[in-house]
Amino acid sequence: MTFPDRFLWGTATAAHQVEGNNIASDYWVLENMPGTFFAEPSGDACDQYRLYRQDIAQLGELGLTSYRFSIEWARVEPEDGRFSRAAIAHYRDVLQTCHEFGITPMVTFHHFTSPRWLMKLGGWEYEGTPERFAAYVSAVMSELGPLVPYACTINEANIAPLIRSLMPKPDEAESSHAPVGIGEGMADALGPGLKAGADALGTTPDKMNLFMFTTSDTGVAVVKRAHTEARRVIKELSPSTQVGITLALSDFQPRPGAEEIADRMWAELLDDFLPAMDGDDFLGVQTYTRAVVTEDGIQPHPQGAELTQMGYEFYPEALEGVLRRAARAGLPMIVTENGVATADDSRRTEFIRRTVEGLERCLADGVDVRGYYYWSALDNYEWMLGYRPTFGLIAVDRDTQRREVKDSARYLGAIARGNGLR
Ligand code: BGC
Repeated sequence: MTFPDRFLWGTATAAHQVEGNNIASDYWVLENMPGTFFAEPSGDACDQYRLYRQDIAQLGELGLTSYRFSIEWARVEPEDGRFSRAAIAHYRDVLQTCHEFGITPMVTFHHFTSPRWLMKLGGWEYEGTPERFAAYVSAVMSELGPLVPYACTINEANIAPLIRSLMPKPDEAESSHAPVGIGEGMADALGPGLKAGADALGTTPDKMNLFMFTTSDTGVAVVKRAHTEARRVIKELSPSTQVGITLALSDFQPRPGAEEIADRMWAELLDDFLPAMDGDDFLGVQTYTRAVVTEDGIQPHPQGAELTQMGYEFYPEALEGVLRRAARAGLPMIVTENGVATADDSRRTEFIRRTVEGLERCLADGVDVRGYYYWSALDNYEWMLGYRPTFGLIAVDRDTQRREVKDSARYLGAIARGNGLR
């Protein structure tokens, strides 16, 4: 079976994880604090701010047709209200390079990191954040709009509810309003680097509303409004740009008796976002594994399961399960992330093969999927875990910044060239 014409075969990265020296961002501050809860700082990362041309050329050579990367708010607006023309010019070059190599660019406007100044204002609990975010998106789109065929406003807009659903709920009734910012339990777990980081960011741990940790209802509402505001300005400035949000979705597999619990998870992680997605062109689906749900909630992986470097189950069939379920959003879907962290590249190839088989079954049944982006193009900075997990199709020697293409990259490239498995 072949995939529809113009199916997007791509790979994805995020600015902070690959560019290096994202020094005006909140994460940079936190990573570099004594006692930090990050395994190591991001440092030069993959130096992609300098080496983007070589990386994009490589993706084209492999046969991939699209590249999803993020524009970094902290670079474009390093101080509140002060926009960097140089940073916007840089991203113009990146976009033009994609077009030059026949790669369709997909831009993400927010991928976890925010400018450090936003934390002083209250971060993702601050009611003015959606307008600030839209102002940044507008600064970019007014210059670069015609070069951006696809835009994801916010990466994993549901990450906070996802984290909340995994956190112990001492008092179910109160849990949706607390914790504001980083709750006490989490603050203890994150150690002294958190307090030092909050000081450096001009705030306090309880008010430091990093995107990922803002689990309150207010925070979730701010994120949703940031999405709708951003979509509005994108559509105003560049009506042909296809806009979507991306959501982290696991394949929730309820065991008998736990159907309602799994339904609740779907409601919180997907259905809740549907009103904000009204007017979007696509839904970005991001899936890495399944989650077996029993009456006691999400279970750690099944006994004896093969685990990835992330500690969760190697389960390529998860994507198929999620796509079938998420189709009820009624939007075309693009798999904006899916991948596996493993030191054994043959397992990555196997993961891709089984995933693409699942995609084929979905398409055969009429599920509307328009693209697939493997996470990630490069072995990169896996947030708090540092550089240990390797998701990449391409290895990076971070002393020399030399790239080495893995077999799995050639495998995905061949699928892209043939528009399907042969
Ligand atoms: C995120 C990426 C991350 C990947 C692998 C996704 O949730 O968007 O930034 O590296 O998962 O853990």
